[in-house]
Amino acid sequence: MKSLVLVTGGAGYIGSHTTVELIHAGFDVVIVDNLSNSRIEVLDGIENITGIRPSFENFNLCDAALLEEFLTNYPGIQSIIHFAAFKSVEESVKQPLKYYKNNLLSLINLLEGMSKHRIPNLVFSSSCTVYGQPDHLPVTEESTVKAARSPYGNTKQISEEIISNAVETNSAVQAISLRYFNPIGAHPSSEIGELPLGIPDNLVPLITQTAIGIRDYLRVFGNDYNTPDGSCIRDYLHVVDLARAHVFAISRLLSLKNRANHEIFNLGTGEGVSVLKMITSFEKVTGLKLPYKITNRRPGDIEQVWADTRKANRTLGWKAEYSIDDALLSAWNWEKRYRKSH
Ligand code: NAD
Ligand code: WQD
Repeated sequence: MKSLVLVTGGAGYIGSHTTVELIHAGFDVVIVDNLSNSRIEVLDGIENITGIRPSFENFNLCDAALLEEFLTNYPGIQSIIHFAAFKSVEESVKQPLKYYKNNLLSLINLLEGMSKHRIPNLVFSSSCTVYGQPDHLPVTEESTVKAARSPYGNTKQISEEIISNAVETNSAVQAISLRYFNPIGAHPSSEIGELPLGIPDNLVPLITQTAIGIRDYLRVFGNDYNTPDGSCIRDYLHVVDLARAHVFAISRLLSLKNRANHEIFNLGTGEGVSVLKMITSFEKVTGLKLPYKITNRRPGDIEQVWADTRKANRTLGWKAEYSIDDALLSAWNWEKRYRKSH
């Protein structure tokens, strides 16, 4: 019998790609998503790629009664991947309580539900944001978790702590937190990708929206940083690689290979790439000229960060395989396909 995974936020960007990889790996998936930052058509994309339409339930995970009803109706769930959260750093600064409520309450409800319904395995979406500007690069999982720079970042730090406390008191639950660096790109089929609801915050959707003419130019936030070309450096990884890592994490928990009840892994490529390099790579793979202007630094930006991925490589057995060029081309193909159909 196939193992059943609950994917919260499975209609979203990373959750939809992960659902595809889970189905490819032979898992059954049920998605819970309230479509607060996604669209129901994502299920068509997943079905077009895999030939399977995952079960889908639309409700807010902050509603404990609805979650309880759902878990009672789906008694076979063995694992949960918890993607559902709000993720805009900027919005979280303006509306902190919205972020604390959604991101923390949904997690607490799930942990209570796991305990009551004896669901043993949790994979949690954390973020490299917990490191702030690290003192040493590349950043390992042992690096200090610095004071959060935003309420969003704080929800990730607090969530990791909540999970640690919860597994300490309930050894029947085991968890893996995955600290994502910067996910970019789309499925190579262009059936699913990052949905640009509202104005994007992130670099790559802003690059592709500029290239397609929605924006006049890209703003490069500063070229006076202490980096080789003066622009900021990040570790950008293909969303399909990131999705695959979740299959490794679930398989590790299901086969009881984990060495602690709450393990943490960095997920990145291990390579830092500057904003200006991202622009030249995009121009190279698309043959387009991207209009951009150097502007002031963005307040709160980290100068440079990239992952030490050795723990994920050795312990999880996962390694990013796609190149930045692959990822940028897939993002561009997705943008073109999305604009044609919307
Ligand atoms: P996304 O917004 O595309 O997906 C999140 C999904 O969760 C959405 O479909 C939304 O409708 C749903 N959702 C939110 N709150 C919900 C609730 N209370 N009940 C039910 N559904 C709810 O975001 P994403 O980029 O796929 O990110 C997934 C996870 O990864 C998030 O936890 C995010 O914080 C984390 N993360 C993302 C990035 C990134 O750059 N995209 C980086 C690091 C960590
Ligand atoms: C990348 C680089 C910008 C837009 C965010 C969240 C973080 C995590 C990952 C979830 C930076 C530069 C951007 C633009 C630019 N998410 N840039 N012009 O800043 O690494 O982090 O996503 O957990 O919490 O804060 O990602 O895509 O916003 O920026 O020059 O118009 O692109 O300065 O160097 P970031 P990003």
